Amino acid sequence: MSGASTGLGAATTRTLAERGFHVLAGVRREQDGERLRQAGAEPVNLDVTHAEDIARLAARIDASGKPLRAVVNNAGLAANAPVETLPLEDWRAVFDVNVFGAVALTQALLPALHRSSGRVVNITSIGGKVAMPAFGAYSGSKFALEAISDSLRQELAPHGVQVVIVEPGGMRTEMGSRGTSAAEGQLERMTPRQRDLYGETMSAFLGYAAALDRTGITADEAARTVMTAITAARPRTRYTIGREAALLSRLIRFVSDRTLDRMITRTLRSQTMDTAAATA
Ligand SMILES: NC(=O)c1ccc[n+]([C@@H]2O[C@H](COP(=O)([O-])OP(=O)(O)OC[C@H]3O[C@@H](n4cnc5c(N)ncnc54)[C@H](OP(=O)(O)O)[C@@H]3O)[C@@H](O)[C@H]2O)c1
Repeated sequence: MSGASTGLGAATTRTLAERGFHVLAGVRREQDGERLRQAGAEPVNLDVTHAEDIARLAARIDASGKPLRAVVNNAGLAANAPVETLPLEDWRAVFDVNVFGAVALTQALLPALHRSSGRVVNITSIGGKVAMPAFGAYSGSKFALEAISDSLRQELAPHGVQVVIVEPGGMRTEMGSRGTSAAEGQLERMTPRQRDLYGETMSAFLGYAAALDRTGITADEAARTVMTAITAARPRTRYTIGREAALLSRLIRFVSDRTLDRMITRTLRSQTMDTAAATA
């Protein structure tokens, strides 16, 4: 499990450990590892952008001789700002974690998964199906992970390794506060011209993020779906998490791009106003 320190990764790790699974819980800080050890998991030092962490984990799994049931690519990073203003280094950071980190971990653990007929569970997002303003980098990375997962599923099907995609909608996790403070930083660093152009887009994003913090589903609820993706004997190719993700993933099959754009604009506007009312 990558990204086990907080949110969905921590909740799924706890649930798995409670049910008696041996979870190698990827963390980047000792205190996060200690909490997970107390919950019954085995913490491992794992930054998915560090090749040496990944190699060490693969060697640890090989040396154990135990079958590897699943690799869960859950680590994720958000950077929300318009395409024109988000610095390239932030684009790279998002893709390094959400795309290349997941690919690197999967490549390293696939030999073990082939031996055990295990599975790859990739946590994407409904943002990997629908892209809103200020979500270019994040959605771009999640669309990419969706496509990579679709290719991988077909490549591995003849070899008995399954690939399952999990698409959460809004969850109440640390990603909200992390995303909000990063977006506030982006807004502060904008030039006056950029703020004129995109100030409203950023307020709409901040309103949306605040609304999610009130209405999103909890990590513990969401972890149930990830458990199903890991343990179902015949898993579906993809699962959504939450009502918003279930609705949107169906809706996009029937509405035109421009209709969807209008619906997103209306939603963002109403959530900005809701936030103003809630904080007044
Ligand atoms: N929250 C939502 O509304 C939402 C919606 C759709 C999809 N998702 C997806 O669900 C997954 C879990 O997110 P969450 O909501 O639980 O957010 P979260 O609480 O912020 O968790 C993100 C996790 O990713 C880890 N991470 C970040 N960079 C990493 C790196 N370089 N190497 C290893 N781990 C790294 C973080 O570790 P540190 O604590 O060490 O930084 C943390 O454990 C992500 O893939 C996210 O994109 C979330």
